[in-house]
Parts: sequence; C-alpha cells; structure tokens
Amino acid sequence: MSKIKVAVIGCGAIAQRRHIPEYAANDNVELVAFADPIIERAEQMAEQYGGKSYASIEQLLEAEKVDAVSVCTPNYLHAQHSIAAANAGAHVLVEKPMATSKEDAEKMIEAARKNNVYLMVGHNQRLMPPHVKAKELLDSGKLGKVLTFRTSFGHAGPEGWSVDGRESWFFRKEEAVMGAMGDLGVHKADFIRYLLADEVVEVSGFIGTTHKEDTDVDDNATCILRMKSGAIGTLVASWTQYKGGDNSTVLWCENGVIKIGATSGDEVVVELTNGTQETYKVGAMATNEKQVPSGVIDAFVESIKTSTPPSISGEEGMRSLNVILAAFESQATGRSIKL
Ligand SMILES: NC(=O)c1ccc[n+]([C@@H]2O[C@H](COP(=O)([O-])OP(=O)(O)OC[C@H]3O[C@@H](n4cnc5c(N)ncnc54)[C@H](O)[C@@H]3O)[C@@H](O)[C@H]2O)c1
Repeated sequence: MSKIKVAVIGCGAIAQRRHIPEYAANDNVELVAFADPIIERAEQMAEQYGGKSYASIEQLLEAEKVDAVSVCTPNYLHAQHSIAAANAGAHVLVEKPMATSKEDAEKMIEAARKNNVYLMVGHNQRLMPPHVKAKELLDSGKLGKVLTFRTSFGHAGPEGWSVDGRESWFFRKEEAVMGAMGDLGVHKADFIRYLLADEVVEVSGFIGTTHKEDTDVDDNATCILRMKSGAIGTLVASWTQYKGGDNSTVLWCENGVIKIGATSGDEVVVELTNGTQETYKVGAMATNEKQVPSGVIDAFVESIKTSTPPSISGEEGMRSLNVILAAFESQATGRSIKL
C-alpha cells in the first residue's frame, strides 16, 4: 500500500510535540504539507520533516491532494478547517474540543459523512496507559457498579504550553470560546463517558475566571454530573493549579474503589471491600512537562489503513462537547441542565 499523505494545519505546540513527530515515526505516513499563518512555523516543520509549507489551509488544499489532515488550530477554527479538509476528500483528525457549538459539530459530522471520509477527535486521555488499565479493570466487573466518582484535570495554564505563551489565543474569548473547560474539562467529560460506558444526563456547572488577568475565559470549573446509570460525580477543570497539577479520577463502586493517578505517580490502585489491594504501574500519564506518545495519531492512521471507522469518532466528540456546553448553560442560567 502506498503511504498515506498527511497535512498538518496549525504548527503550534500540539502539532510540534505530538502530531508531527508521531506521524513522522509512523511508517505508513508521508508528511507532505504544513500550514500556519506564521509561515516560519510551517517552514520550520517542512525543513525538519520534509514537505511543503503554506500560509493557509485554503492554499494548501488548493495545491496538494492529501489523504488526511490534522487540524491543530485554535478552537474557533476547528469546524471551518475540518469541513474544508473533508470537502477536499481528506480524512480528518481534529483536536479537542472538536468544535465550539453543537451545530458546528453536527456540520463536521455531516461533512465527513457526505464526503465518505473519517472524522476523529484527539481525545488522547482514552489512550493513556493508566486509563486503558482502569477501563480494563472496570470492564472485568470485579468492582461492580460505579456509584460515585470525581475526575479532575488541572495545571498552571496554557501560558506555559502554547507557542505564543501569555499572548496565546487560549486567553482570547473570540478564538478560544472556552478556557479551562475547553482545554481540560472536555477531556474529562469524554474520559468519564468512555470509562463508565455511560452518558451524562444532567449537569450543574460553577465556572469562572478566578485568577488569570486580562482574559474573560474561564480558568476554573467544578461541575456535578448525573449519569444515565444513576451514578453521581464531580468534574473539575483548572488553569490555576500552580503547584500540584492534577489528572486523577476516583470511582467508588459497589465492591470497592479504583484510584487512577490519585496516589503517588501514575498508578492505578484497586482496593476491594474484601480487603484485597492491587497496584498497577502500567506507564506514564502525559503532562505538559512530560510528553509521552499520545497513540491518537497511530490510531487515526490505522483506521485509514484498515478502512475501519475510528472509535473516537465525531459523534463521540460531540457527546463529550455537549456535556461542557451544558455546564456553561448551567453557569449562565443558575439551573441544572438535562441532556
Ligand atoms: N489533545 C490534547 O491533549 C491537546 C493538548 C494541547 C492542545 N490541544 C488542542 O490543540 C489545538 C491547538 O493548540 P496548541 O496547544 O497547539 O496551540 P498553540 O497556540 O501552541 O498553536 C496554535 C497554532 O495555530 C496557528 N494558527 C492560528 N490560526 C491559524 C490558521 N488560520 N491556520 C493555520 N494555523 C493557525 C498559530 O499560529 C499557532 O502556531 C487547540 O484546539 C487545543 O485545544 C489538544
């Protein structure tokens, strides 16, 4: 089989740290083009990895026939860029949050369907080794039904991550639309849906800007979720964990508790009511400082290679997006929102 020709749109932090190196390491892929309005960023990637550079997705799609595209641009451009790529006949891997509204997410799904291409969303939390292990343990049934949970994701904010630092689009509401919730909350909404194989049916959100200056995007959120199964839990997203950044989930179940990233390191710990305790060290959870392969790029390539629809599909991305959109509606109205 000939190599899958891939273009990367947006050459910032996630493209440079994960998408581009992971494509470059995949033998089935040829990186053919990069786009970024700060053309030096695209040029630098083209120089380092081969391929051509463009100042916009429009110019790139006009000049190149590509099989697949990674959309690694600011949130407000995800829908526009994904739809343009799908209409050009390319499979799309779009970063999270897949869109900034339900309507846009639906348009993206429709564009992929109409053009007979795959749409996958970069919800890499599902693929982190401790999360894969937790899913396996939960699915084994030994813990019984999940009754209550807390899931939390926080760090010191995107100024230490984005290629533009404190000047980043992450802090501009017109471009980011959502702050910590779009950055981290949507990851946890997706992860809890996936882990529990359950859907969120009701959300209450307390969302605000508590400490970041000169921005009106949220830097903290605490949400209460009710699941279809009846389980009730909390979801936290924070950009102000200047010390003690957190990516942890604890599920209290009929037969015990499972703690993921909540004890020292990246361990998964199972404590059962019958007195047994098991600790699994299965590999690292990625942090902004400590990057590990996401697995998302390989999964996307595998889908294309084997003509198998991606499991982290546009529909999945939209359900996870809808949870955080409902939390914002709850914050705005002072009511809990049913999904
Ligand atoms: N899956 C994850 O864990 C994860 C982690 C970080 C970021 N992300 C997501 O990835 C996306 C990009 O974030 P980032 O951290 O790389 O941001 P970043 O600020 O580091 O980079 C964004 C890049 O997009 C470029 N850009 C802006 N407008 C563009 C346009 N019209 N066409 C092409 N490029 C354009 C900018 O010049 C910049 O180089 C965001 O949606 C973010 O939520 C996902």
